[in-house]
Amino acid sequence: MNRIFSGIQPSGNLQLGNYLGAIRNWARMQDSHECIYCVVDLHAITVPQDPAELRRATREVAAGVIAGGVDPDRSVIFVQSQAPEHAELAWILNCVARLGWLNRMTQFKDKAGADRDGATVGLYTYPVLQAADVLAYKATDVPVGEDQKQHIELARDIAQAFNSMFDTDFFPLPEPRIQPEAARIMSLRDGTRKMSKSDPSDYSRINMTDGADLIARKIRRAKTDPAPLPDHAEALEGRPEARNLVTIYAALAEVSQETVVERFAGKGFGIFKSELADLAVAVLGPIGEEMQRLMAAPDEVDAILGRGNARAREISGPIIRAAQDIVGFHRA
Ligand code: TYM
Repeated sequence: MNRIFSGIQPSGNLQLGNYLGAIRNWARMQDSHECIYCVVDLHAITVPQDPAELRRATREVAAGVIAGGVDPDRSVIFVQSQAPEHAELAWILNCVARLGWLNRMTQFKDKAGADRDGATVGLYTYPVLQAADVLAYKATDVPVGEDQKQHIELARDIAQAFNSMFDTDFFPLPEPRIQPEAARIMSLRDGTRKMSKSDPSDYSRINMTDGADLIARKIRRAKTDPAPLPDHAEALEGRPEARNLVTIYAALAEVSQETVVERFAGKGFGIFKSELADLAVAVLGPIGEEMQRLMAAPDEVDAILGRGNARAREISGPIIRAAQDIVGFHRA
């Protein structure tokens, strides 16, 4: 059976892109696959984090994953730092991956910005840890948004390099699984930038915990252009903000973009935005409420994470030990 692994960083608020691009898909995959989902705090500390806030966000993200439909009785949910296998395998893979491969990673370039020398070594080698996350479970499929595709392709390259270096077929080559209808949800303020939990403007995103009024206000204020909605989806080309709102509507309603434009053809954004707000509230409202309930029940979340941690290590432990044997580490 295929094994699924995916991760999410506990930094900032969970936003609609995380839900539509990742978590909803994670929940769907549980029906047909063995699924392992991880809150990746080791990745979060590649940029400075406030310790108390990191701890709070770790629980909140776990709550968001559960509220978003991942069932702890069917899937493994745990915290990365508590399974030392990830860091152990990452070191081995650091000695397989090449500088030239990491130099091509666009996320590092974006996050390091102009001051490359000031970035942490952890930020640079971040994608190798991500490869270790996936390969520690011999996962075959990795459900992610479009922005993570390059990292999963690197994980394939690293797996292949390990296999050929040690003349083995030990690691399977993982496949990125990207939902085309919500591969890249964009900012509500700028249709050419990704919606992100780290964007300084809260009006750029819908958070999974936003209440009905706030969701409606953010959608009302979302940037658009003066033209009405077109009568076919191709006409959204060159209208990034309009396209993004149609994409969000279609993904929330689970219909095609064509169906959405047919319904609203020739109408102004006023009407469209008000229906989009109702739809977003209908989908996110119950999830946000369940998240709030779980946040008020930290023991319940921690019990789930504790169980998940034990199960994760049961799977990854033997795989890491076998990898160490292949490398030639002495076990006394
Ligand atoms: P992170 O925490 O930035 O995002 C978690 C997931 O949400 C998706 N996503 C989006 N999808 C569509 N539109 C958006 N605007 C949007 N914003 C976020 C991301 O693509 C991702 O799937 N490096 C990863 C975490 C990670 C990981 C892994 C993922 C660590 N180890 C192993 C897969 C496998 C990250 O920072 O995701």
